[in-house]
Amino acid sequence: MTGLGPVAWPPVPIRTERLVLRESEAADRAAFIELFASPEVRTYLGGPRPREELDRAVPEVPGRRPGLFVVDLDGAMIGTVSLDRRDAERPGHIRPDAGEAELGYMFLPEAWGRGYAAEACAAALGWFADAIPGEPVVLCTQTANDRSLRLAAKLGFAEVERFEEFGAEQWFGVWASATPPA
Ligand SMILES: CC(C)(COP(=O)(O)OP(=O)(O)OC[C@H]1O[C@@H](n2cnc3c(N)ncnc32)[C@H](O)[C@@H]1OP(=O)(O)O)[C@@H](O)C(=O)NCCC(=O)NCCS
Repeated sequence: MTGLGPVAWPPVPIRTERLVLRESEAADRAAFIELFASPEVRTYLGGPRPREELDRAVPEVPGRRPGLFVVDLDGAMIGTVSLDRRDAERPGHIRPDAGEAELGYMFLPEAWGRGYAAEACAAALGWFADAIPGEPVVLCTQTANDRSLRLAAKLGFAEVERFEEFGAEQWFGVWASATPPA
């Protein structure tokens, strides 16, 4: 992944009704490991990774990069929302030079079903639309991932195409902020 582009990072923590989106901290390490080791979280993301491997590989402060938000509920990490540049080699693009901004999300299973992912993703998209006005955001998720598809629709992503990748059908969609660039 290349850098996100001309964005100020880290931003001031973003507060929503119930959550805070912020840069990662050392105290988030256990939650990061939990996300990658969880069979539920990783069902449509290539499967869980062994805990011992994660214990060795995950850095002291994980996930510190422009575009990676830790989602914090009452002082504890419940998931991540990310905006990265989509690899040119992968299928699914909306512009000829590729490198589109792409939304990603992973939440701990105990935080599912309460609207936290939708609340956090909407805030991250709002931040991105302010930082780089007029730039669309893409999203790719397995069509079998019902929760993720419902979230994409709720956030306002529209289907562009479907294709096979990683041995599964993928849904590829695009989101455009309501306000055109000034
Ligand atoms: C994809 C994922 C983030 C969706 O999480 P989620 O909690 O289902 O998503 P939302 O935040 O939109 O919450 C929606 C649910 O909260 C419920 N809800 C409860 N209180 C709510 C509130 N105050 N506001 C909004 N929704 C609320 C909704 O009714 C809905 O319930 P339903 O699933 O029974 O229909 C989560 O399943 C996940 O982390 N999956 C693993 C990672 C993954 O596959 N990521 C995809 C990468 S592309």
